[in-house]
Amino acid sequence: MSEKVFLSGVQPSGKPHIGNYFGAMKQFVDLQNEHDGYVFIADYHALHSLRNSKEMNENIKNVLLDYLAIGLDSEKVTFFKQSDISEHTELAWIFDTIITMPYLMRAHAFKDAEAKNKEIDVGTFNYPVLMAADILLYGPDLVPVGADQKQHVEIACDLAEKFNRIYGETFKLPNPMIRKEVATVPGTDGRKMSKSYGNTIPLFAEYEEIKKAVMGIVTDSDEGIPKNVYAIHNLLRPASELLSIYKNKAGKYKELKELLIEDLEKFIAPLRQKRKEFAKDIPKALTILKAGGEKAKKVASKKMEEVRKKIGVNVY
Ligand code: TRP
Repeated sequence: MSEKVFLSGVQPSGKPHIGNYFGAMKQFVDLQNEHDGYVFIADYHALHSLRNSKEMNENIKNVLLDYLAIGLDSEKVTFFKQSDISEHTELAWIFDTIITMPYLMRAHAFKDAEAKNKEIDVGTFNYPVLMAADILLYGPDLVPVGADQKQHVEIACDLAEKFNRIYGETFKLPNPMIRKEVATVPGTDGRKMSKSYGNTIPLFAEYEEIKKAVMGIVTDSDEGIPKNVYAIHNLLRPASELLSIYKNKAGKYKELKELLIEDLEKFIAPLRQKRKEFAKDIPKALTILKAGGEKAKKVASKKMEEVRKKIGVNVY
């Protein structure tokens, strides 16, 4: 077990697809075998776009089931829910008092929203500050995130440095760990797999759903090799093996698609099965999350005690 500790947050936002799995989710399951770590459901972060209690409630449970089904193991990582640990928002407030508006106005998310002339709520503006608190409370070495979140981790570093400069050494500086370009998993139309394009293959798809998605893959081909079918297939089999199959069956799109359906089913069926098992006993799954929260709380509350001392509010 390496000394290095990782931490990452996931927003509770709907059904995952295989692009999410290969681009992000799987990474936590791989990391947990080599590092201690924290993975949490960032429900307070999701609030800025999700303002429906029923949907929030369901999404939280769904993300929990998704991660348990792919093998996130609460014996190996501390798996919890952000809103269970009040220290996150408490520390965010303290950070608010040392970060400036012009600095936060340079963040991509804010600039994008502004460029689109959106009315920006303070939560969206402050998003990176809450994220800094999420990270710094636990002192992780590595923060695995997608490229779009790199700036947020840098903001966390800046905040840690600034706090340390003002109040003395308190926070460890984290390193972003940017996911490699496995991140762009192609969708059924060849563009990046994304819910907004409607070109996904759901991670827990039923057989019929897999079949329908694969049959719908656009078959642009290059010397008889259907590029999009190949690209998705390549997630499941090494190129060395796949290329000879595709060359042998050049032009036989239907057969190649059938093989992809078979391979996807082999990969998805056990995950789907596991998810169904966890879904049979949601109270039990919730117990896992709650216990993770109790573990995280110990670490976070100890850090906050130190912070209160450093800023001078602990008079008792
Ligand atoms: N903002 C991240 C995302 O949308 C989720 C997140 C919240 C996070 N807090 C975090 C990731 C802390 C890493 C560390 O993907």
